[in-house]
Amino acid sequence: MPQPRSVFGSLVLIAVIIGAGAAAFAYTAGWFSPQRLTPDKLVAALAPLTGPALGHRRNHAKGICFTGEFEANGAGSELSKAQVFARGQYPVLGRFNLATADANAPDATVRVHGLGIRIATPDGQEWRSALIDPPVFAVSTPQGFYELLLASKSKDANAMKNFIAAHPEFAAFGDWAKNAPWTDSYAEDRFNSLNSFVFVDNAGAEHVVRWSLLPAAQLVSTTPDDLAKRGPDYLEQEIAQRVASAPQRWTLVVTIANPGDPTADPSKAWPADRRTVEVGTLVAQKVEAERDGPCRDINFDPAVLPTGIQVSDDPFPAARSAAYARSYDLRTAEAKDYPRTATSTKP
Ligand code: HEM
Repeated sequence: MPQPRSVFGSLVLIAVIIGAGAAAFAYTAGWFSPQRLTPDKLVAALAPLTGPALGHRRNHAKGICFTGEFEANGAGSELSKAQVFARGQYPVLGRFNLATADANAPDATVRVHGLGIRIATPDGQEWRSALIDPPVFAVSTPQGFYELLLASKSKDANAMKNFIAAHPEFAAFGDWAKNAPWTDSYAEDRFNSLNSFVFVDNAGAEHVVRWSLLPAAQLVSTTPDDLAKRGPDYLEQEIAQRVASAPQRWTLVVTIANPGDPTADPSKAWPADRRTVEVGTLVAQKVEAERDGPCRDINFDPAVLPTGIQVSDDPFPAARSAAYARSYDLRTAEAKDYPRTATSTKP
């Protein structure tokens, strides 16, 4: 005869299940390992001392949205089976932006320019990518980025000096920031993935790659002083006018790593002789509203990839994906702080 389960036994079982669930949540939240880097910590560290710009992206808060297309020339199909590389034209949603947590930062105060893009293909897949204009990232690891954020807003006068001493990899980025020309238009920027990804071809072979968007427009270098004279929002006004007068183009170039290249460290450039393949052209066709346009509620999460593109051993895309999701959750819940029209008070 089956034994009836005792009430006590059932209660113990329920307590164990609830306890295990609570422990799993506590683990995920980092309660057992206060030293562990979490998306919450990264996002909190991005905030200026005066607090975050509510309703806005927690980084790259200032930007301007656009739509256009990606014209694939077919050459990328040798490296990846993703439909986005098959010859054809695919719709793009993009956003030019400045690497600052301040949505009202004057253009001349922000050294790093960025670009978020989403390319959609008829098979229902998407390739999202967020790129920046320096040739290398400032640090080797997400932990290093966290330390950089803390040092750059520290009240300790030696904080940046100490950070640089502990992070020799920062030198290459520091050299670029000090010596590279400033551009006077987003149309003149070269944008780089910096992170490494894996392309998987039709035969299942894997190729570790990085990619860049090379501008068709000629560089007209400027200085922060000159840029400041043109006004705090010059870059978004200029790109709106430029795109209205003619579509703006960038060539998408894929660089393939050699065995032994530093694929897990975006602060290290690969040697200049690595094989490259031009796979198509990004065309910006129409500047869209930023505040109430199609970019407002998208997260250009670099880990949203079509079949045929995968993350690599580079630790950044996973860390970025988690932080972007946190930022997205926060800002979309704060819609009332960033009304959809400048005069409206409604979210
Ligand atoms: C651990 C390192 C990083 C952290 C924690 C981080 C954090 C963030 C956050 C929180 C956002 C706002 C996301 C949103 O609300 O939609 C953002 C946007 C962005 N990030 Fe990062 N980021 C990191 C590394 C990088 C790297 C390596 C690149 C480029 C190579 C990059 C390029 C961008 C760009 C272009 C945007 C703006 C995208 C848009 O217009 O929505 N970030 N980042």
